[in-house]
Amino acid sequence: MKLGINGSVREVTEDPDQTALSFLRREGMVGTKEGCASGDCGACTILVGREISGNISYQTRNACITPLNQLVHSHVVTVEGLADSGGLHPAQEAMLEKHASQCGFCTPGFVVSIAALVEAGEDSKREAVIEGISGNLCRCTGYAPIVSAGLCALRKKHRSSLKEKNLFARFKSDDAPRSEYARPLSETELQAGMRGSPDARLIAGGSDLMLEVTQGFRSIPCFIDLSMVRELRAINETDNQIQIGSSVTYSELEHYFEARSKPFLSILKRLGSRQIRNVGTIGGNLGNGSPIADVPPILLAWDATLELVDAHGNRRSVHVCEFYKGYKETQLQDREYIAKIRIPIKSMNDFHRFYKVSKRLEDDISSVMGAFRFESVGDEISLARVAFGGMAATPVRAMEIEKNLIGQRITNDLIRKVESQILEELEPISDVRASSRYRLEIAQAMLRRSLQEFSGQERLVITEL
Ligand SMILES: Cc1cc2nc3c(=O)[nH]c(=O)nc-3n(C[C@H](O)[C@H](O)[C@H](O)COP(=O)(O)OP(=O)(O)OC[C@H]3O[C@@H](n4cnc5c(N)ncnc54)[C@H](O)[C@@H]3O)c2cc1C
Ligand code: FES
Ligand code: FES
Repeated sequence: MKLGINGSVREVTEDPDQTALSFLRREGMVGTKEGCASGDCGACTILVGREISGNISYQTRNACITPLNQLVHSHVVTVEGLADSGGLHPAQEAMLEKHASQCGFCTPGFVVSIAALVEAGEDSKREAVIEGISGNLCRCTGYAPIVSAGLCALRKKHRSSLKEKNLFARFKSDDAPRSEYARPLSETELQAGMRGSPDARLIAGGSDLMLEVTQGFRSIPCFIDLSMVRELRAINETDNQIQIGSSVTYSELEHYFEARSKPFLSILKRLGSRQIRNVGTIGGNLGNGSPIADVPPILLAWDATLELVDAHGNRRSVHVCEFYKGYKETQLQDREYIAKIRIPIKSMNDFHRFYKVSKRLEDDISSVMGAFRFESVGDEISLARVAFGGMAATPVRAMEIEKNLIGQRITNDLIRKVESQILEELEPISDVRASSRYRLEIAQAMLRRSLQEFSGQERLVITEL
């Protein structure tokens, strides 16, 4: 297969589960570091350029959990490839000027993340810098000089040479498809691939799946990559619903929901890091089956349905409420995939609130995720959805509480009553993220806050989520 690396086209043949990081380092590009091998520290950040429908864009991603094969026909830029004949990249200059590096282990990752902001033409704003480096950890310099370097880099004049390199035209004549790493472009090709390779693992962004390789030390001999399947990458709106293709990434959802749901946007901005959001998909979040995934409680509150499709093209619709069967167990049959997620527009127009509590603000999995939707007729609640992640073996709706809210006016007595019902209806476990007791108290506080916000009472101040 062909891909571009720092301005040159390379022909490579690697095992399907070989990571981009191990390949780059083996090839001498050792500026890209391995810190955690799990997408958490950002030391391995690379810039990946792609041409999609004639548009070229560069995004950061974690090389440690990226299968090299997923980068076919992409242009990979490592820290070694940023400087050009005009001198250092503004991100590199600014890191020097602001003394933003001590031991230097994290520095290439920060440089690449800041370079991505510069290449995207971001304004020199603190929020943009903080968001851009949310997936990079530094353990000795401290973040103040690094943020200052980010702001400084964004103030510098820069004429990007990346897009001028336009390698993409040179990929056109290529490449015999590889059976161990198939990259279908349509659902028809995907279904044929699934029939032909029944044991292949489906991969979208790989941000969950690749941890089996890098943390579980298991080998995955055969993949079918969903990330380029046209129909799975689309978002369509009809009069009464939004249909989101399962391979739509979080970065794309952020863009789409910016004007449609501030509560959802606020969760998307806290989901993983910029590197993770550039690759992680809504379908992967569901397909992984995790009880602490962020999106399922939201889809439960919105009454979403999932379109599941088998290798012969047979389609069925499953309410998200029925999708989870047990811990990491879903309705997905062998050789079946999630094609679309359908959200009723009415649900999005109702009052809704989503809250996430995690140990760190950025790039951290939820201890508890709460999703709430209410409607009223007069001052009585006519519809209630109360959903949680991290409170059971699957994402769940607290249906008894929902029933007890219907027909009621919101009073302090009602809030106290349903809060105490959390203790009866939910039995979360204690684990490294939180104790069972802490989870119950947080869930109570979330329910209280959502009802108070719905009734227009002053927002209860709990530790900022
Ligand atoms: C550093 C880090 C931070 C993270 N932070 C968060 C967070 O804050 N919140 C959160 O919820 N998650 C988080 N995650 C988990 C992960 O990023 C998300 O679950 C993401 O949505 C997974 O999507 P993906 O496309 O990368 O899935 P992949 O890893 O490609 O796939 C995951 C699983 O789903 C299956 N699958 C993928 N697509 C489909 C489909 N269309 N149909 C059927 N099966 C499918 C795959 O076969 C695989 O079993 C984090 C992960 C990392 C590494
Ligand atoms: S090595 Fe830590 S994110 Fe890749
Ligand atoms: S400079 Fe040492 S970890 Fe950041």
